[in-house]
Amino acid sequence: MDISNRKHLRFLGLPLNSLACKCVALVVIALVLRAVLLPRLYELGGLFEQSKFLVAPNVSLLSDSESLMEKSKFLEVPQIIWGLNNQKIAFARACLTARMLKRKLLMPSLSASLFYKEVDLLQPISFDKVFQFGSFNSRCSEFVQLGHYSEISNQSDVVELQKGLGRRWTVEKDFEQLVQFSKQPYDQYEIVKVVGKNPFLWHDHWPAKDYARVFECLVFVEQISKEADKVVSKIRDVGREARQQMGLSQPVPYVAVHMRIEKDWMIHCKKLEQRLNISEICSSKEEIMDRVRNIIGLKIPMVIYLAVADSLLEDNSILNGWNEGLLPCEKKKLGVVEIYKKHPYLIQSAIDYLVCLRSDIFVGNSFSTFSSLVVLDRTQKMIETGDANMCGVDTHWPSFAYNLAGESNGPRAWVTNLSDSSLQSISYGSNHISCSLTSRL
Ligand SMILES: *[C@@H]1O[C@H](CO)[C@@H](O)[C@H](O)[C@H]1NC(C)=O
Ligand SMILES: *[C@@H]1O[C@H](CO)[C@@H](O)[C@H](O)[C@H]1NC(C)=O
Ligand SMILES: *[C@@H]1O[C@H](CO)[C@@H](O)[C@H](O)[C@H]1NC(C)=O
Ligand SMILES: *[C@@H]1O[C@H](CO)[C@@H](O)[C@H](O)[C@H]1NC(C)=O
Repeated sequence: MDISNRKHLRFLGLPLNSLACKCVALVVIALVLRAVLLPRLYELGGLFEQSKFLVAPNVSLLSDSESLMEKSKFLEVPQIIWGLNNQKIAFARACLTARMLKRKLLMPSLSASLFYKEVDLLQPISFDKVFQFGSFNSRCSEFVQLGHYSEISNQSDVVELQKGLGRRWTVEKDFEQLVQFSKQPYDQYEIVKVVGKNPFLWHDHWPAKDYARVFECLVFVEQISKEADKVVSKIRDVGREARQQMGLSQPVPYVAVHMRIEKDWMIHCKKLEQRLNISEICSSKEEIMDRVRNIIGLKIPMVIYLAVADSLLEDNSILNGWNEGLLPCEKKKLGVVEIYKKHPYLIQSAIDYLVCLRSDIFVGNSFSTFSSLVVLDRTQKMIETGDANMCGVDTHWPSFAYNLAGESNGPRAWVTNLSDSSLQSISYGSNHISCSLTSRL
């Protein structure tokens, strides 16, 4: 390029005939403006928080001179295992432990497959393949933070925290141990590494609302929510078709029913009923249908999405016996089995979770962790919208438990009691549920 006959601009005595020079000039101008303007901002005093200028330099600019930053310390936990919702609870418990120790939680491994006993067969999957890492840290800033292994400066500066075992290892002992590890000399180590059980089995020391605070920061990666969009849109199609056939003006909503009637569950829930001396845990297919039909104020037509275990997809009888006006469907009938099949167990479960979360009405089992976390999520949405009324189908995010009788032999209206002192009722199930206003924060 011939630049010889371009007019030579001059700035501080330098010719400005190249891109590089222009850049230098811009930087100089910026510096001059900053020097002029910055003191003026300080003069404005109260209007600006001075700390913004003094202690909040852009961290990425400082990464070369790490001595300026306070060094992070970390908590490392064992691989997190079992069902999606057990994993979410275990993750939150690990976060709350890290918070108590004033450490970042090193991004843990989740498990993509569901093996109950053979830990060797658990397929590890990185947290950020399931949940958005950046989003977690920005939503939870001030509360708890995740760290990357790459942030560790000295791998060998580590102390192990062995979780105790057995009956003698009480909640109090466990808490004492955590207090100890938050003090000298343990607080000096860069890494505290917990060894032993999966965090789901650790003793719990935190109120339900602290767990809720962590769950709020968990956002599924876009790939997962897009898969759920596809399934929800198929469900909406069933409603749209019914609407056209009947010449209705209003959209047809959908009820998601988390129907646990597969053999494994039936064996588990019968045992649980015996152990807890409660008769309201297991429900048959007929009982569930009855309860759903009896929801007060249920308008028809209504699409019924049956969130069921794959083993039940071969059993067409779950689609039979519903009242007229209730349009049952499951993955197979919707033609979405292929969408699920592409993914490992954990992701399939996440898609189902979102389909239930987004439903117009949710009906689940109060002894299922999956159902309980869907209801917790919906309760948080209710609180966000500031709805005064939390009971019945006219609320924004109504949920019900089919295993418990409510009014007129319908399912019992259900919102999570966020003032509970622990997550016990959510992680292990409860028959003490209600939609009472006292559960509002
Ligand atoms: C920090 O700097 C990086 C690159 O220099 C930029 O992408 C980022 O937006 C900045 N962050 C803030 C909070 O200013
Ligand atoms: C790393 O930590 C170990 C154990 O605390 C310590 O002995 C070692 O000096 C540290 N290394 C560096 C480079 O700081
Ligand atoms: C089980 O519960 C029933 C009533 O709910 C009660 O009468 C019975 O004594 C209980 N049995 C045991 C072993 O606690
Ligand atoms: C919610 O939990 C708190 C604390 O455990 C309890 O006092 C309150 O009665 C519960 N509310 C309902 C509606 O169950």
